[in-house]
Amino acid sequence: METLLTTTNHLNLPFSLFSNPTPSSPLSFTPHCFSSKFKHSSRTTTLYTTTPSSKPSTPLRISANSQAAPMETSTSTPTIPSDMKAWVYGDYGGPDVLKFDTKVLVPEINKDQVLVKVVAAALNPVDFKRMLGKFKASDSNLPTVPGYDVAGIVVKVGSQVKSFRVGDEVYGDINEKALENPKQFGSLAEYTAVEEKLLALKPKNLDFIQAAGLPLAIETAYEGLEKAGLSAGKSVLVLGGAGGVGTLAIQLAKQVFGASRVAATSSTGKLELLKSLGVDLAIDYTKENFEDLQEKYDVVFDAVGQCDRAVKVVKEGGSVVVLTGAVTAPGFRFVVTSSGNFLKKLNLYLESGKVKPLVDPKCPFSFSQTVEAFSYLEKGRATGKVVIYPIP
Ligand SMILES: NC(=O)c1ccc[n+]([C@@H]2O[C@H](COP(=O)([O-])OP(=O)(O)OC[C@H]3O[C@@H](n4cnc5c(N)ncnc54)[C@H](OP(=O)(O)O)[C@@H]3O)[C@@H](O)[C@H]2O)c1
Repeated sequence: METLLTTTNHLNLPFSLFSNPTPSSPLSFTPHCFSSKFKHSSRTTTLYTTTPSSKPSTPLRISANSQAAPMETSTSTPTIPSDMKAWVYGDYGGPDVLKFDTKVLVPEINKDQVLVKVVAAALNPVDFKRMLGKFKASDSNLPTVPGYDVAGIVVKVGSQVKSFRVGDEVYGDINEKALENPKQFGSLAEYTAVEEKLLALKPKNLDFIQAAGLPLAIETAYEGLEKAGLSAGKSVLVLGGAGGVGTLAIQLAKQVFGASRVAATSSTGKLELLKSLGVDLAIDYTKENFEDLQEKYDVVFDAVGQCDRAVKVVKEGGSVVVLTGAVTAPGFRFVVTSSGNFLKKLNLYLESGKVKPLVDPKCPFSFSQTVEAFSYLEKGRATGKVVIYPIP
């Protein structure tokens, strides 16, 4: 963790290129306004009256406690409805299996959890891979409310929760182990239950859209680079530099780990973005093969699935961390573990502006456009993060 204290450069990134729309509804709620806000949102049904075909014929009633410890009771909380709007799938498949449901039970919380009113949620490739059934063997039971990343407001706290209070603006990846029994009740819903240890206070300078896009991707970038042994003065090649993880891996490599040289790959139209993020060498993968460039790196961070090629450009004694695809020695597979502590530490860099979130210019997708958002992410061409906002 010492690398977190070795910041060197300060980037001046031209992110106006990807400016986010200013959300129209208030983003700073105070506890006293929860009641009316929630009563209002629980009665709002107009958003989906134009898409009746997306509703399941029989509303799915799934219980949050199907995989949880005894239910927690709490006092003096805002008014929370018993049912909520959520996206749900009951069978594995492509985006078509997603159904909008207005009658999903609001999750109960355990002693170590908080209930979050979701303001924005982000999609990650793991969401559609899980929905396709690729992790069936270790998945929780269907039906599933998908969604790992959340930014929202705490509306209820369990009795063992120490760090958060009702009204806190928080963000996090709600699944500690991405592929092992991920929650049945994800973040593509009005409310989601999350362990305290997986959350951090939302960086003060970021809106909910920006914050929602960070957790899983920035934790993957940070933990992956750390496990690969990146440290000050070393070089790194990021394969997939323009994606949700890659855009953060580039910035963390420079700003947090103090890498001396950062190279990254993307298609032609995204090379300028890579440079704005701080890369020393932007490689156009449509025109050249990175392994033909005669340069070797201490670390290769593979967010594309090109380990067989990545191992050819790593220095002797260096490492290749592999997020996806087949692994060739000496590469090693890495799967993220969600941690609020990582987010708390990285908040320093986010609040100082040294590390910036990048939200895809097509975003945010509205809650009613969640199926389109999944289809868009699945194409593998997103620039930065795909975020859903507002959540009713
Ligand atoms: N193991 C883990 O814990 C973990 C955690 C997070 C993510 N992942 C995995 O890591 C991968 C990346 O995740 P992500 O969230 O960054 O995905 P993403 O945001 O969907 O990545 C999209 C980006 O990938 C780039 N890309 C596609 N093919 C490329 C290629 N051949 N060379 C260079 N760039 C390419 C695209 O840029 P162009 O349009 O320029 O091609 C696009 O900007 C996914 O497979 C995901 O499942 C694993």
